[in-house]
Amino acid sequence: MEVSLYNLLVLSIVIFLAPAYPGAKIIGGHEVELHSRPYMASLQLYIGSKQYAPYCGGVLITPKWVLTAAHCEKTIASGQFVEAVLGKHSLSNFEESEQRLRVIKQIPFTKYDKTTKEDDIMLLQLETAAKINQYVNVLNLPKGGITDMKSGTTCTVAGWGKTKTGNYSDTLQEVEVEVIDRRTCNSKDYYNHRPEITQDMICVGDRKGRADSCQGDSGGPLICDKMYTGIVSFGRGCANAKKPGVYTLLTKKYIDWIRSIIGLPLKDAEELY
Ligand code: ARG
Repeated sequence: MEVSLYNLLVLSIVIFLAPAYPGAKIIGGHEVELHSRPYMASLQLYIGSKQYAPYCGGVLITPKWVLTAAHCEKTIASGQFVEAVLGKHSLSNFEESEQRLRVIKQIPFTKYDKTTKEDDIMLLQLETAAKINQYVNVLNLPKGGITDMKSGTTCTVAGWGKTKTGNYSDTLQEVEVEVIDRRTCNSKDYYNHRPEITQDMICVGDRKGRADSCQGDSGGPLICDKMYTGIVSFGRGCANAKKPGVYTLLTKKYIDWIRSIIGLPLKDAEELY
């Protein structure tokens, strides 16, 4: 086929516009400092022939438990299994720091509802305990749960999800985002109550639509005021100014649920690890 001037022109326009495509890294973020988030887990499905498919993020909350989103629950075909991969930075490279731990049980919140998106939270039980070191460590749950975060609070979110290019990121990315109050988030221009953004959810994004989490970041942590505040849950598109990312808020209801399963005493989860 002949390469016409017209084809070249179209191609150069496409290349020129590509970086501005709003649809897809963590959007608008940057690579994290090496092993600065030792609690981050990459959830990967073993699909056979030594191939692993990363599909969600998660957080190590005790050496034997990972917290993630309920919509990250996997139906596991025979010959397959799920691993929580800890101590990672670049997913494509073998790293000395990595620990691959088999997930033996997925426990979604009892009432997780696919249509309303409520209760998008799940515990993963690990077969063996993670070894805590410089590269792998737990993230403490918020003491007593989080009631809410003030609108405008700056938070960060991290993950190996889709980037601006539409591809999943090989290295762990993070981005700063801002809390958007629930009333605004439920208003007509925003989610318009579809679905309803409840007291157990929090909207966090960028009013100019430059920063967001995206597909593949689900289950990862939202950190506000240095506290583990939420879990990446959903959004309509990514980095869409009026459709910010929605996160499961780590309210008392969820902290109590977590404790009822993993058996932490009803004291300060924080001080136990
Ligand atoms: N549900 C997505 C996932 O499974 C997360 C989407 C987050 N979207 C957003 N715009 N913040 O990875």
